[in-house]
Amino acid sequence: MSLRRLAPEQPASFAFTPENQKWAEGQIKKYPEGRQASAVVPLLWRAQEQQGGYVTEPMIRVIATMLGLSPIRVLEIATFYTMFNLKPVGKHLIQVCTTTPCWLRGSDTVVAACKKNIAHAPETVSADGMFSWMEVECLGACVNAPVVQIGDDYYEDLDGARMESILSDLRAGRQPKAGSQIGRQTSAPEGGPLTLKDVKGS
Ligand code: FES
Repeated sequence: MSLRRLAPEQPASFAFTPENQKWAEGQIKKYPEGRQASAVVPLLWRAQEQQGGYVTEPMIRVIATMLGLSPIRVLEIATFYTMFNLKPVGKHLIQVCTTTPCWLRGSDTVVAACKKNIAHAPETVSADGMFSWMEVECLGACVNAPVVQIGDDYYEDLDGARMESILSDLRAGRQPKAGSQIGRQTSAPEGGPLTLKDVKGS
């Protein structure tokens, strides 16, 4: 795993919105007395969402105080789990799987499309603020490799041209269809299922 550090530039402060504060207090109450620290991951996740996709030092301090932890304990968690971004991200963060099955199926072309249309270096916000991209390990959808995750959605069976089309849709404010980009039915073979094709009457 690469070295993970907080961004050198940090905002002055962080506060949950009233709605998120209420939600966070509800999460903390779910845990038995003395175990409130267990709420650290959901609180970091909600705070990251509120902050526009990344974790900040003031955020870590606020959450540490809420949970009665020292800030270093929250920092350890934020830097350990790659679901937490440590520097600003674009409005759409493109997580490109480059682990072996995706690589064998052409993830290099997907990376090239991101370099061409977003920024040459990973974890760099595009000039219009719309995108950043990063390489990630297996997303658990190897059967439809290569795969990227954008927000909560997976885009599968990609190649460079399909990735460019998705980026173009997002840039224009259109929501591209998630899932297989070649019309594959779930994880069936390309062209359709080869087994269990007989539908028996009940
Ligand atoms: S290797 Fe890319 S999803 Fe598993």
